[in-house]
Amino acid sequence: MSTPADRLEEIKEKGLLRRMRTVESAQGARVRMDGEDVLLLCSNDYLGLTTHPAVTAAAVDAVERWGTGAGASRLISGNMRPHERLEGRLAAFHGAEAALLFGSGFLANTGIVAALAQRGQVVFSDELNHASIIDGCRLAGAETFVYRHRDLEHLAWGLGQNRGRAALIVSDGLFSMDGDVARLGWLRTLADRYGAMLMVDDAHAVGALGPGGRGSVAEAGLEGLVDVLVGTLGKSLASYGAYACVSAELRDLLVNTARPLIFSTGLPPASAAAAEAALAVIETQPELVDRLRANASTLRAALAANGLEPGGSGTQIIPLSIGDPDRATAACARALRDGVYAQAIRPPTVPEGTSRLRLTVMATHAEQELRNAARVIADAVDAVSADGEWSIDLPDPAPGALQVIRRPERAGAEVKSGA
Ligand SMILES: Cc1ncc(COP(=O)(O)O)c(C=O)c1O
Repeated sequence: MSTPADRLEEIKEKGLLRRMRTVESAQGARVRMDGEDVLLLCSNDYLGLTTHPAVTAAAVDAVERWGTGAGASRLISGNMRPHERLEGRLAAFHGAEAALLFGSGFLANTGIVAALAQRGQVVFSDELNHASIIDGCRLAGAETFVYRHRDLEHLAWGLGQNRGRAALIVSDGLFSMDGDVARLGWLRTLADRYGAMLMVDDAHAVGALGPGGRGSVAEAGLEGLVDVLVGTLGKSLASYGAYACVSAELRDLLVNTARPLIFSTGLPPASAAAAEAALAVIETQPELVDRLRANASTLRAALAANGLEPGGSGTQIIPLSIGDPDRATAACARALRDGVYAQAIRPPTVPEGTSRLRLTVMATHAEQELRNAARVIADAVDAVSADGEWSIDLPDPAPGALQVIRRPERAGAEVKSGA
């Protein structure tokens, strides 16, 4: 059996060793790192609300009034007014009947998929879904059919092969590492045709896409029409935690069956209060969302003007493909040296061969900062390119990326991946 040291060495040899960098200031468009002021291009605090005075004041007030922790799971004594108030606000924001808070987006996805997809059923999951959805599939009693990224034909084929067994179609709304958007109208149609529920993880789209920042589901005209809409409080909502918008009946079912909700402490009340205040800012200042979109266009245009070809589909998440993990890390380090922090993303977060810089824009960036950053990043990418040329197009996903996730004890059960 390999030792921890062997395993670390193996990770290092593959160019995949991860280390945490320390931010020495509050989050913001610019942060302090290693004593230097750098432009932050890899935060999900898209609207810059983690330091908004109304949001910080709400958190401070909540600590003073409600204390620092919930003290127990919500089914024991940890269900407090700030939780219920936020749930009401979130349900109204998304046009849903009800909302239910979770400890984090990771816990929401693992808990909900596992709770809804039962033995004998099948979950249909986009191959580029977030890791927490993948882990939810692994925990569920159901089998999983992984369909090619945004490939409706592949999904329809899988549904046809598993007629009568469909439990859930699940997709990121805005894909976190690729910056493109799911084809939600079609997912709804297919879900209806095959009797499946539709679950959309809109973690990155809330505050960024759709009318008033209500997300990709609202942008697709499906408000109130997806069975489960997951959002996180940790990105545009400037806090920590997550939520699911669902019917009242589904909420009751999740309260009774979602293990991360049942067996984990309720959110700190101040996290709920901060998110509620951030939501109020989004509702009263939708121009912040417009600003985020304008900044995304500015950075995309500036990158293109510097000879790069940003991936994704016009959103605030901008992947620049590099391919090799060591080169991606080197490009990140070089840009950081020149005052721009754009994180390298490597497997297993993204498929083999698709390491990249993932840039994220904030509403609080200044246009000129973004133009300057594009030059720095282009220089960094050039510097790590072996022959002075580099490819931007993300390669097709490797065939190995398609897989049937199956619990070992049920390995005999067969669900075809269609690969
Ligand atoms: C698409 C998506 N879903 C869920 C999560 C997890 O959310 P949280 O950070 O609240 O655990 C993330 C986190 O980055 C994400 O990108």
